[in-house]
Amino acid sequence: MQRILSAIQPTGDIHLGNYFGAIQNWKNLQDKYDCFYGVVDYHSMTMPYKATDLRENTWKMAFQLLACEIKPEKMFIQSLVPEHTELCWVLSCFCSFGELSRMTQFKDKMDQLKNQDKDVLASSGLFIYPVLQAADILIYHADFVPVGKDQEQHLELARNIAERFNYQFGTEYFKAPKPLFTEIPKLLSPADPSKKMSKSLGEKHFINVFGDEAFIRKQIKSAVTDTGETTEGKMSAGVENLFTLLKACGNTAGLESLNNDFKAGQLKYSLLKETVSETLINFLQPFGERYKEILADKKKYKQLIQDSSAEIRKEAQKTLKEVRELSGLMNLKN
Ligand code: TRP
Repeated sequence: MQRILSAIQPTGDIHLGNYFGAIQNWKNLQDKYDCFYGVVDYHSMTMPYKATDLRENTWKMAFQLLACEIKPEKMFIQSLVPEHTELCWVLSCFCSFGELSRMTQFKDKMDQLKNQDKDVLASSGLFIYPVLQAADILIYHADFVPVGKDQEQHLELARNIAERFNYQFGTEYFKAPKPLFTEIPKLLSPADPSKKMSKSLGEKHFINVFGDEAFIRKQIKSAVTDTGETTEGKMSAGVENLFTLLKACGNTAGLESLNNDFKAGQLKYSLLKETVSETLINFLQPFGERYKEILADKKKYKQLIQDSSAEIRKEAQKTLKEVRELSGLMNLKN
C-alpha cells in the first residue's frame, strides 16, 4: 500500500474550511492508503503562544479529528515522536538559507509578526518551519502528501532536500514525496466574502464544525450577500459561498431548486439562508454528538492517541537509525 502523510496544526476548533479543505479528504483516504496523520504541535511553537493553550489545543485537535471519524490508529501527536526534530536538524544541513528565505509562508508570517505592535519574536524556528515539515514527510517515506495550493512550495522543498540528502550519501534512501491534489470547495468568510474562511479573522469569519447551533444560525442569517460588483445573472461572492456550502454538505436537491430560482431571477435570500442553516445543522449534528461522547470519555481517547503515537514512533525510530548510519552519526553499536 502506498503511504500518505498529512498534518494539521493544533489551532483550536476545526472549521468548515479545514473540514472540507483537508479532513474530509483524510477520512476518504484513510482506508485506501497507509496513512499517517499528525497533530503538529512543534510547528505551533513558531508563532507566539501560551504553554497551557498549546497542550489544551493539541488534545482538542486530536479529539475533534476523532469526531470527524479519523481512525485513532492513523493519528499521532508530533511531540510524542521527538525523532521529527532530530531529522529536522539533519535535514537543515541540506537546505540553504536562501531557499528558506524564499518561502512565501515565512514572508507572510513575518509580516503578521511585524504588524503586531507588541514586542514579538520572529524566531529561527519560524524560519526553519519548512524543514520540520520536510522531516514530517520524509521520516515515514510518504509517497503522497494531500496538500492545498498554499503548501505546494513546502512540498517542493521537501523533495529537493530528499534529493540532496540522497545525492550527498550516494543512496536512494528518501522518497521524493508527490502532492495529491483533490478538488476542494473554496469557502469564504460569511461575514466578509472577499476573504477566505479563516480563524485568524475572528469568530464571525469561520463556521465552527463543533459550534453552537444558535450561533451558526445567526452567522448564516447575517451572512453578507450583496457586496462585491455583480453583473446581471452572476452571483455575488457571498451568495455563491452559500451555494458552495449547500453543495459541500450534499444538499443537491436544495441546491438545484434554489439555483433555478436564481436563474429565473426569483431567488429569495431568506429562503436560501434558511435552507443553508437547516442543511448545516443537519450535517454537523453527528459531529457534535461524536465529540460529546469523546469528551465524556477523555481518558480512554487520550490513551488511544498516546498508544498510536508510540506505535508510529517505532517507524520514525527506524528511519533515524538508518539516517544516523548513512550520515556518519553514531548509533550505539558504532
Ligand atoms: N504547514 C502545514 C500547514 O500549515 C502543516 C504541516 C506540518 C503539514 N507538517 C506537514 C502538512 C506535513 C502536510 C505535511 O497547513
